[in-house]
Amino acid sequence: MTKKVLITGGTGLVGTALTSLLVEKGYSVTILTRDKNRTSLNSNITYSYWDINKGIIDQDELFSANYIVHLAGAGIADKPWSEKRKKAILDSRVEPIKLIYNRLKNNSHQLNAFISASGVGFYGAVTTNTIFDETAPAADDFLGKTCLQWEQAVDEIANLSIRTVKLRTGIVLAKNGGALPKMMQPFKFGLGVALGTGKQIMPWIHIDDLARLYCAAIENENFTGAYNAIAGNVNNKYFSKTLSKAINKPFWLPNVPGFMLKLFLGEMAVILLEGSAASNQKLLQTGFQFQFTDLEEGLKELVKEK
Ligand SMILES: NC(=O)c1ccc[n+]([C@@H]2O[C@H](COP(=O)([O-])OP(=O)(O)OC[C@H]3O[C@@H](n4cnc5c(N)ncnc54)[C@H](OP(=O)(O)O)[C@@H]3O)[C@@H](O)[C@H]2O)c1
Repeated sequence: MTKKVLITGGTGLVGTALTSLLVEKGYSVTILTRDKNRTSLNSNITYSYWDINKGIIDQDELFSANYIVHLAGAGIADKPWSEKRKKAILDSRVEPIKLIYNRLKNNSHQLNAFISASGVGFYGAVTTNTIFDETAPAADDFLGKTCLQWEQAVDEIANLSIRTVKLRTGIVLAKNGGALPKMMQPFKFGLGVALGTGKQIMPWIHIDDLARLYCAAIENENFTGAYNAIAGNVNNKYFSKTLSKAINKPFWLPNVPGFMLKLFLGEMAVILLEGSAASNQKLLQTGFQFQFTDLEEGLKELVKEK
């Protein structure tokens, strides 16, 4: 029988890539979205309206799912981090899990697995020489606390004897969304530079590999708990130089001073100015194989005209 995957926030960058791959593999996909008018042209993809604040979720869709993938969340870098925005970033990740937990706990339907996004921000927006593995504690800053509460909500689902996986994701490199198209803008105009000290580490993953990783977490029952979902760690200067090379544009010195970014972006500038390395050893031990481990190759594949 066709297996069904329910994806929260499946209309976004990761969800779109994952949905295509799942459908290609023969799954049926239901996407929970806040958009009431969304309709599908593909019989294997269904859009189902939900309202987290009002507790609206289609029970039939929920209870017929074999797997749930939780990707919903207000964009981390979309708006400055006011207290209101920080609350929206946290609540939009944690409240959907609580809603699903409350429905699942009173129903005998046995879900095969609940797989959630998380971020390498778990380890904090800091630049250190530490290579963080999954045993490291959450940091005490905004991203660290957010990821911790997000993951603790997932752990409640694990308490229902459901296999849970938390993918602590690095910067997702994709052609049509996420950080790369924004980062590329100045580079396209020949204004490619490093940011701040240029020493901050950028753990990265190619979108195709991330979609394959979600599929692996669905299909391989040995996946359980937290994994750093990253293909490699490079510093910002290397990343910037490699991006310039991939799009055949010049790379300039000096770097953009950190204080200027802080002036424009406020606290959120830490996303660009800080970053430590994460280890993917635990992930590799599952047998997962990346298609893209070389940044230049990954970037060239993404920026080429298709
Ligand atoms: N992209 C990255 O580089 C990256 C890195 C690390 C971690 N992650 C995490 O991975 C997950 C998926 O990332 P993504 O890049 O696919 O995100 P995305 O493109 O921003 O998509 C997230 C989806 O969440 C839904 N959403 C947005 N705001 C919401 C809110 N306030 N309440 C409920 N739902 C909301 C939207 O779907 P509807 O409008 O259809 O409801 C949206 O399409 C996120 O949790 C993200 O933090 C991403």
